[in-house]
Amino acid sequence: MSSEQVGPLAGREVLLVVGGGIAAYKSVTLAREILRAGAKVETVLTAAAQRFVTGVSFAGVTGRPARIDLWDASYPGELHIELTRKADAVIVAPATADLLARMAHGLADDLATTCLVAAKGPVLVAPAMHPRMWEHPATQANVALLRARGVTVIGPVVGPLASGETGIGRMTEPEAIARAVVAALTPRRDLEGLRVLISAGPTHEAIDPVRFVGNRSSGRMGFAIAEGARDRGAAVTLVAGPVALADPAGVAVVRVRSAVEMRDAVTAVASGFDVVIMAAAVADYRPAEVAPAKIKKSHAELTLRLVKNPDILAELGAARGDARSPILVGFAVETGDLVAHAREKLARKGCDLVVANLAEHGFEGADNVVTLVSAARAEALERMDKREVAERILDTVREIRASR
Ligand code: C5P
Repeated sequence: MSSEQVGPLAGREVLLVVGGGIAAYKSVTLAREILRAGAKVETVLTAAAQRFVTGVSFAGVTGRPARIDLWDASYPGELHIELTRKADAVIVAPATADLLARMAHGLADDLATTCLVAAKGPVLVAPAMHPRMWEHPATQANVALLRARGVTVIGPVVGPLASGETGIGRMTEPEAIARAVVAALTPRRDLEGLRVLISAGPTHEAIDPVRFVGNRSSGRMGFAIAEGARDRGAAVTLVAGPVALADPAGVAVVRVRSAVEMRDAVTAVASGFDVVIMAAAVADYRPAEVAPAKIKKSHAELTLRLVKNPDILAELGAARGDARSPILVGFAVETGDLVAHAREKLARKGCDLVVANLAEHGFEGADNVVTLVSAARAEALERMDKREVAERILDTVREIRASR
């Protein structure tokens, strides 16, 4: 390895914390990718990580001994303080359910967790575990806590798992994690001064006081765009339907339930925005009447009459007329003919960009496969983390603004 570092992370220091999961072997590649970006890397292995990989592999790649012991007698000072003093960023990969829980609750009883409490720069985590562990409410609550605290969560992604099953829980590939580390350490402030409005999540259309018509949108795509735009310097307002995600720090969040509430919230704030991104899966219909009391199961059959909801995006497109601002971005979930349907939506709703994806991809998971369709072109992106999709959408929004 040359001592003269080049690349976007030249002169930077990254602390890699490796948790105990089968994906730990990929963290050796991750260390190499971060080095290739120009940074120097220190590695800390948890006791469980050492069951999967040894410090020797990391030492061989990074040129520095891997650290495993809080009580390392060969080190004269406080190792966790020294490691975090010089670290510009900390990446935890793989982040196990246990490590995420310890982080969320500030436990600090070994070298890895003391470093995580002492960390001062950006902290990123790349979770990897079985889907049942990932989806467990405790894990989800811990991840929500960490996100709300500003931790960047990369993945996990859907794919083949150690158990032989396929599902959500694979660690994001090392190259993509390294790109996220680079992004965290080289923040672009290229949306500074822009006001961006984003909608996210499903809407719930009440049937009676306890029931609703809804859909499975998780809200993650819209929240990822909000976080990405915030990090790039935009002033962000997020109108969110009912989702289990915590308010992202530094974003003005308006919580709504139904499509009509979402329309009212959007129209109340919509003027003065430079960019509006409608990532919400708005229900197209709502029950014509909301029963004032819980409907009893005394009828053999029950017919729900539905009426159309306002199309918020189309209303914004129509209101904009020939004006250039705001830039309007819509989403399209389709079951086929992706680009043709997106083009039709682009014209019908008067937007500048449609983010199209097939229904089988992306609705609930942490990653997505989308095609970005504008009047000028259709760009099919590979499968990637929703935060990366968000960055690509924001890049395209910038290009559209610049081309005007
Ligand atoms: O027509 P379709 O529902 O496929 O369009 C999806 C796009 O339109 C999304 O951007 C969604 O947020 C927006 N939309 C809306 N109001 C509706 C339905 C969809 O703003 N009632």
